[in-house]
Amino acid sequence: MAALTILNYPDPRLHKVAKPILKVDDEIRQLVKDMAETMYAAPGIGLAATQVDRHIQLIVIDTSKEQNDLLVLVNPNIIAKSGEQEHEEGCLSVPGVYETVTRAEAITVEALDQHGKKFKLNADGLLAVCIQHEMDHLQGKVFVEYLSPLKRNRIKTKMIKHQREIERNSY
Ligand code: NI
Repeated sequence: MAALTILNYPDPRLHKVAKPILKVDDEIRQLVKDMAETMYAAPGIGLAATQVDRHIQLIVIDTSKEQNDLLVLVNPNIIAKSGEQEHEEGCLSVPGVYETVTRAEAITVEALDQHGKKFKLNADGLLAVCIQHEMDHLQGKVFVEYLSPLKRNRIKTKMIKHQREIERNSY
Protein backbone atom coordinates (compact mmCIF):
# COMPACT_ATOMS: atom_id res chain seq x y z
CA MET A 1 0.00 0.00 0.00
CA ALA A 2 1.54 3.24 -1.15
CA ALA A 3 2.03 5.73 1.64
CA LEU A 4 1.72 8.92 -0.38
CA THR A 5 -0.43 10.19 -3.25
CA ILE A 6 1.47 10.96 -6.45
CA LEU A 7 0.37 14.05 -8.39
CA ASN A 8 -0.52 13.39 -12.01
CA TYR A 9 0.43 15.57 -14.96
CA PRO A 10 -0.94 18.18 -15.82
CA ASP A 11 -1.46 19.05 -12.14
CA PRO A 12 -0.17 22.65 -11.76
CA ARG A 13 1.53 21.71 -8.46
CA LEU A 14 4.06 19.72 -10.51
CA HIS A 15 5.39 23.06 -11.76
CA LYS A 16 6.24 24.50 -8.35
CA VAL A 17 9.95 25.09 -7.70
CA ALA A 18 11.24 23.20 -4.65
CA LYS A 19 13.07 25.00 -1.83
CA PRO A 20 16.37 23.80 -0.35
CA ILE A 21 16.12 21.79 2.86
CA LEU A 22 17.65 23.77 5.73
CA LYS A 23 17.89 20.94 8.23
CA VAL A 24 17.87 17.19 7.57
CA ASP A 25 15.87 16.08 10.61
CA ASP A 26 13.59 13.21 11.62
CA GLU A 27 10.69 14.73 9.71
CA ILE A 28 12.76 14.60 6.51
CA ARG A 29 13.88 11.03 7.28
CA GLN A 30 10.24 10.00 7.73
CA LEU A 31 9.40 11.59 4.37
CA VAL A 32 12.33 9.68 2.81
CA LYS A 33 10.85 6.46 4.20
CA ASP A 34 7.37 7.25 2.91
CA MET A 35 8.64 8.34 -0.50
CA ALA A 36 10.77 5.20 -0.87
CA GLU A 37 7.78 3.03 0.06
CA THR A 38 5.61 4.90 -2.44
CA MET A 39 8.23 4.55 -5.19
CA TYR A 40 8.76 0.81 -4.59
CA ALA A 41 5.01 0.16 -4.45
CA ALA A 42 4.31 2.05 -7.70
CA PRO A 43 6.74 0.52 -8.86
CA GLY A 44 9.22 3.14 -10.03
CA ILE A 45 12.95 3.88 -9.99
CA GLY A 46 12.79 7.49 -8.85
CA LEU A 47 10.55 9.95 -7.04
CA ALA A 48 10.94 13.64 -6.30
CA ALA A 49 9.23 15.32 -3.32
CA THR A 50 7.46 17.62 -5.79
CA GLN A 51 5.51 14.60 -7.06
CA VAL A 52 4.02 14.00 -3.62
CA ASP A 53 3.20 17.71 -3.24
CA ARG A 54 6.13 18.51 -0.94
CA HIS A 55 8.07 21.35 -2.50
CA ILE A 56 11.48 20.75 -0.99
CA GLN A 57 14.67 19.51 -2.65
CA LEU A 58 14.47 15.81 -1.89
CA ILE A 59 14.78 12.84 -4.25
CA VAL A 60 14.76 9.08 -3.79
CA ILE A 61 16.15 6.77 -6.49
CA ASP A 62 16.74 3.06 -6.85
CA THR A 63 17.88 1.80 -10.24
CA SER A 64 19.06 -1.59 -8.94
CA LYS A 65 17.41 -4.73 -10.30
CA GLU A 66 16.81 -6.04 -6.79
CA GLN A 67 15.34 -2.69 -5.67
CA ASN A 68 17.52 -2.77 -2.57
CA ASP A 69 19.92 0.11 -3.18
CA LEU A 70 18.15 3.31 -2.16
CA LEU A 71 19.84 6.59 -3.08
CA VAL A 72 18.69 9.70 -1.21
CA LEU A 73 19.58 13.13 -2.56
CA VAL A 74 18.94 16.24 -0.47
CA ASN A 75 19.62 19.62 -2.13
CA PRO A 76 21.31 17.99 -5.17
CA ASN A 77 23.51 20.08 -7.39
CA ILE A 78 25.09 18.97 -10.67
CA ILE A 79 28.68 20.22 -10.66
CA ALA A 80 29.85 18.58 -13.90
CA LYS A 81 28.26 16.97 -16.92
CA SER A 82 29.52 15.49 -20.18
CA GLY A 83 28.38 13.68 -23.29
CA GLU A 84 24.90 12.96 -24.52
CA GLN A 85 22.55 10.00 -24.37
CA GLU A 86 19.06 9.26 -25.59
CA HIS A 87 16.90 7.26 -23.27
CA GLU A 88 13.25 6.29 -23.21
CA GLU A 89 11.80 7.78 -20.03
CA GLY A 90 8.66 7.29 -18.05
CA CYS A 91 7.37 9.07 -14.98
CA LEU A 92 5.09 8.07 -12.11
CA SER A 93 3.29 11.39 -12.64
CA VAL A 94 2.61 10.58 -16.31
CA PRO A 95 1.48 6.94 -16.15
CA GLY A 96 1.60 4.93 -19.37
CA VAL A 97 3.68 7.47 -21.31
CA TYR A 98 7.22 6.59 -22.46
CA GLU A 99 9.19 9.00 -24.64
CA THR A 100 12.82 9.45 -25.64
CA VAL A 101 14.68 12.37 -24.07
CA THR A 102 18.26 13.52 -24.69
CA ARG A 103 20.33 14.21 -21.57
CA ALA A 104 23.96 14.28 -20.43
CA GLU A 105 25.66 10.87 -20.50
CA ALA A 106 27.67 11.42 -17.33
CA ILE A 107 27.19 13.77 -14.40
CA THR A 108 28.81 14.55 -11.08
CA VAL A 109 26.28 15.48 -8.44
CA GLU A 110 26.81 16.90 -4.98
CA ALA A 111 24.13 16.41 -2.34
CA LEU A 112 23.40 15.64 1.29
CA ASP A 113 22.29 12.19 2.39
CA GLN A 114 19.43 11.45 4.85
CA HIS A 115 21.80 12.17 7.74
CA GLY A 116 22.74 15.58 6.41
CA LYS A 117 26.19 14.40 5.31
CA LYS A 118 27.57 15.89 2.11
CA PHE A 119 28.66 13.50 -0.65
CA LYS A 120 29.69 13.52 -4.27
CA LEU A 121 28.53 10.96 -6.81
CA ASN A 122 29.65 10.19 -10.36
CA ALA A 123 26.83 8.69 -12.40
CA ASP A 124 26.36 7.64 -16.00
CA GLY A 125 23.83 5.69 -18.06
CA LEU A 126 20.43 5.05 -16.48
CA LEU A 127 21.40 6.46 -13.07
CA ALA A 128 22.52 9.74 -14.68
CA VAL A 129 19.21 9.89 -16.61
CA CYS A 130 17.22 9.24 -13.47
CA ILE A 131 19.02 11.88 -11.40
CA GLN A 132 18.56 14.50 -14.16
CA HIS A 133 14.87 13.56 -14.56
CA GLU A 134 14.20 13.83 -10.82
CA MET A 135 16.16 17.08 -10.49
CA ASP A 136 13.97 18.54 -13.24
CA HIS A 137 10.93 17.77 -11.03
CA LEU A 138 12.45 19.92 -8.29
CA GLN A 139 12.60 22.76 -10.81
CA GLY A 140 8.94 22.21 -11.67
CA LYS A 141 9.74 20.51 -14.95
CA VAL A 142 8.11 17.29 -16.16
CA PHE A 143 9.89 15.23 -18.87
CA VAL A 144 7.08 15.71 -21.41
CA GLU A 145 8.18 19.36 -21.60
CA TYR A 146 11.14 18.16 -23.71
CA LEU A 147 8.70 16.93 -26.37
CA SER A 148 7.11 18.93 -29.19
CA PRO A 149 4.05 21.02 -28.20
CA LEU A 150 1.89 18.76 -30.39
CA LYS A 151 3.02 15.60 -28.64
CA ARG A 152 2.79 17.23 -25.23
CA ASN A 153 -0.78 18.41 -25.83
CA ARG A 154 -1.76 14.95 -26.95
CA ILE A 155 -0.37 13.53 -23.71
CA LYS A 156 -2.10 16.25 -21.68
CA THR A 157 -5.46 15.40 -23.26
CA LYS A 158 -4.91 11.70 -22.67
CA MET A 159 -4.00 12.30 -19.01
CA ILE A 160 -7.05 14.51 -18.36
CA LYS A 161 -9.32 11.89 -19.94
CA HIS A 162 -7.64 9.14 -17.90
CA GLN A 163 -8.09 11.20 -14.70
CA ARG A 164 -11.81 11.69 -15.42
CA GLU A 165 -12.22 7.95 -15.89
CA ILE A 166 -10.60 7.28 -12.52
CA GLU A 167 -12.87 9.85 -10.85
CA ARG A 168 -15.96 8.35 -12.49
CA ASN A 169 -15.01 4.87 -11.37
CA SER A 170 -14.52 5.94 -7.78
CA TYR A 171 -18.19 6.82 -7.28
NI1 NI B 1 9.17 11.74 -13.07
